Amino acid sequence: MHNKQKLQKHSWLDHAVVYQIYPRSFKDTTHNGVGDLQGIIERLDYLNDGQGGGLGVDAIWLSPIFCSPMIDFGYDISDHRNIDPLFGNLEIFDELVAQVHKRGMKLMLDFVPNHTSSSHPWFVESKSSVNNPKRDWYVWHDPGPDGLAPNNWLSVFGGSAWTFDEQTGQYYMHTFLSAQPDLNWHNPEVKKEMFGIMRWWLERGVDGFRVDAVPHLFEDKKLRDNPPNPNYVPGQDDEYEAQYHVYTNNLPETLALIKEMGALLDEHNAAMINEVRLGQRGDHLRDFYEACGDNRTCQPFNFRLLNAPWQAQTYREIIDKLEKLLWPDCSANWVFGNHDMSRLAIRLDRPRARLVAVLQMTLRGTPFIYYGEELGMIDGGLPPKRDDQRGKKTPSRDPARTPMQWDASKNAGFSDTEPWLPVGIDYKEYNTASELSDPDSFLNLYKVLIGLRKTSPVLLDGKYESLETGSDQVLGFTRNLDKKKILVLLNFSKQPQVLSLPQLGRPGLLCATEPSLRPEQEIDCQKLSLNPLESLVLDLRL
Ligand code: GLC
Repeated sequence: MHNKQKLQKHSWLDHAVVYQIYPRSFKDTTHNGVGDLQGIIERLDYLNDGQGGGLGVDAIWLSPIFCSPMIDFGYDISDHRNIDPLFGNLEIFDELVAQVHKRGMKLMLDFVPNHTSSSHPWFVESKSSVNNPKRDWYVWHDPGPDGLAPNNWLSVFGGSAWTFDEQTGQYYMHTFLSAQPDLNWHNPEVKKEMFGIMRWWLERGVDGFRVDAVPHLFEDKKLRDNPPNPNYVPGQDDEYEAQYHVYTNNLPETLALIKEMGALLDEHNAAMINEVRLGQRGDHLRDFYEACGDNRTCQPFNFRLLNAPWQAQTYREIIDKLEKLLWPDCSANWVFGNHDMSRLAIRLDRPRARLVAVLQMTLRGTPFIYYGEELGMIDGGLPPKRDDQRGKKTPSRDPARTPMQWDASKNAGFSDTEPWLPVGIDYKEYNTASELSDPDSFLNLYKVLIGLRKTSPVLLDGKYESLETGSDQVLGFTRNLDKKKILVLLNFSKQPQVLSLPQLGRPGLLCATEPSLRPEQEIDCQKLSLNPLESLVLDLRL
């Protein structure tokens, strides 16, 4: 059972809006077409100037900035205690921490515990001989009886999870690329070293970690084959789904480890956001919450709406189900985009992405915004012969990583030289400079919503209650705290919808997706209809 008293205390994360920066793509100051830490420092005021200006986010999460051969753009670390020269150095990093804190924001880093780069000195040593003291820091095994891989485990990025090493005659295991060998978390030395690394960054002023690839941390010691997934449709589903990953995902040891990491972070009032997978059979989200123990600043990412079909009823079911799954007062979060996903304005479209902005900022739970979503950025093109490393059969993730669109100048104000990825085709219209001056822009919608959320105890802490709206195309819910209520209505369809709502007092308009279509501040709920893909946030004065 959870310690109620402790759970009732809010953590800073509960009330934060978190903004994810993909450092390669935010702002280049070193004229090499790749973003860097100095660029982030220079653009912090855009996020929050500490005086009520800027987008108003409370915390920043940086995708990896550590030394890396960049085969998976930093998710392949070769030195955990240093900054890759592409991004800067420790001195600039310390300045970044100071500048973030000066503005009242928090800084979170990506922590990648499952694997290192194959050029990490630990792996170089481990690979050098079967007797090397670091051999057991990674997952090595003799070939199977047929001389092939030791078992049927698959890599998330395609093919076998095993790569043969000619020199020592054994296979090593990698959940992702062969250049990302898995660490062996059964080895206490690995644990000690990785905890030391977390502590080192915390002592440098970091306010928490987004923890990468958590389900994969432990593998079955007996190396048993994963059973086939009977629901797998070859040619349609990702090859990785061909199995149930019972011996490689979410092992009980993983949950115990999360608890220990959570306790370490709690000592520093630091956050831990765990990247978990949606379960193939049943749901592990609650297990991951429970693994966080009493630490309220520890949460698993909730990806449930990320790929949900665009139907008001489906969204309602998913949200209601999550609200039931979590105990009252448990911290939630909602994720709609990140560096691994196609952008919202492409997965849905721009008008729908605006609805998602309203939904995300009004639901119970910490919102995570992927850089550029607040501008309505779309996926970009790839330069010829460039792809990320996921292999040819899966689409590249790079289109969602194009340079931040600052203004309408060449390279969108991101760099004065050719950027590592081409800027989005419509950056002249969708950029921070032009959107700031347009009251109907994406950016201003996000600013209004973030401002609303931050100043509204109802949106921060209020209970969620789903509401029948009289139209199955309209998602409706209220957030309630003490005697205050906020009503949120979202029309998922391209047709106007007439609503039939219960008697709800005198609603005042707090926010509309198309402000120019809603000049009236007072709304009559008895005669309310919503425009196509319109959303309203209403204050119910009871
Ligand atoms: C996570 C990251 C992804 C990376 C992978 C391997 O899923 O989000 O970008 O490629 O882990 O570290």
